[in-house]
Order: sequence, then C-alpha cells, then structure tokens
Amino acid sequence: MCTFSELLMKRRSVREFEKREVPLSITEEIIKESCCAPSARNEQPWHFIIINNETMIKRLSDESKGVILEEIKKSPGSPLKKYEEMLRIEGFNVFWGAPTVVYIVGPESKGSLQVDCALAASYFMLSAASRGLGTCWVALGSCIEDPEIRKEIGLPDDYKIVAPIILGYPRVIPEPPPRENPKILKVVS
Ligand SMILES: Cc1cc2nc3c(=O)[nH]c(=O)nc-3n(C[C@H](O)[C@H](O)[C@H](O)COP(=O)(O)O)c2cc1C
Repeated sequence: MCTFSELLMKRRSVREFEKREVPLSITEEIIKESCCAPSARNEQPWHFIIINNETMIKRLSDESKGVILEEIKKSPGSPLKKYEEMLRIEGFNVFWGAPTVVYIVGPESKGSLQVDCALAASYFMLSAASRGLGTCWVALGSCIEDPEIRKEIGLPDDYKIVAPIILGYPRVIPEPPPRENPKILKVVS
C-alpha cells in the first residue's frame, strides 16, 4: 500500500506486458473509480468500450495506423509525420501487445468532452497503477473510421474516441522520463 503521492510518482506509461488477461471485474472496478473524476456541470459525458479480444485489438491497431498514414500522405507537414516510419512497420501494434484496450469516448456534441474524458483517463491510469496494473494512453490508436469496425465495437456514429488506454500486467516498468521543474509564472500575494 503506498501513499497517494507515491502512487503519482509510481505510475508510468507501460509498453511491455505479461501474457495474462486482466479479469473483466478488475477493469470494471477501475472504470468505476474513473467515474469519480470531476466533469463540467457534472455531466459525466464519458462512456467506456472494453476490448479484450486480441484479434480485434490488432484490427483496431491496423485501422488506426492506416488512417494516420493516409492523413500523413494528404498533409506531409503534419506533426504525425514523425511517426510514419514506425507506423509503416508491418508488425508494429500501436497497442504494444496489451491484453486490454479501453476506449474512453463520448458524444462529440458535448463541449467539454475532451477535458472530462481526459480527467476520467487520469483517474483510470492511477486506479490501475494502485492495483499493480500498467497503462498507457495511446493516441495513435484513436483513429477508427471504418463504419464496420465502429459498429462491431459499439461506437456510435456521433461519438468521438478521446482516450484509448491500454491495460495489462506490466512485464517491464520503465524508468521515469525526466520532468521539467514546475513552470510557475508568478506568485501573486
Ligand atoms: C495524450 C497522450 C497521448 C499519448 N500517446 C501515446 C502513443 O500514441 N503511444 C505511446 O506509446 N505513448 C503515448 N503516450 C504516453 C506518453 O508518451 C507518456 O505519458 C510520456 O512519455 C511520459 O511518460 P510517463 O507516462 O511514464 O510519465 C501518450 C500520452 C498522452 C498523455
């Protein structure tokens, strides 16, 4: 059992996982805690899609890679260009071989959707870390346009994927990447 401060320091983006399923009940407990996050007007616009199927996770990775590569082709000046080489590697799975992907999604019409779902994602990652599970927000896995796949994963047409989070038992917990000192512009007292 660690303190909350220790938990904040301990959470890392994990990209290497054991070949072990995460029980659905644990994913559901983590999601329950994610929903303790604050949201604008307490609207709680977040919805969750849990994917535990390896074949589907690969299809989602391939779909997202394809959409991003198309985007790079259309706009070579895109900031996504720096990922092109990696995305072109046939066997590269954007979800890093995790056994579970959780999409935090919601209706595009909600003005505060991005912020609210990002808060839920933060809670999700900390809740998972407190249980010894590893997570990583994988923005490269968010570009799911194929209507057939969207239907299969239960993602409504007017919903946007805000946070794709991978979840699993860590095989390797990386060293913490360096953090800059807090950029406090001014203390007005
Ligand atoms: C919005 C967002 C998008 C990210 N997208 C990716 C991604 O597509 N692939 C990946 O491996 N990591 C991704 N990350 C993880 C970051 O690289 C990671 O948080 C950062 O390097 C700091 O490491 P830490 O989380 O261990 O502190 C993303 C993180 C955030 C917050």
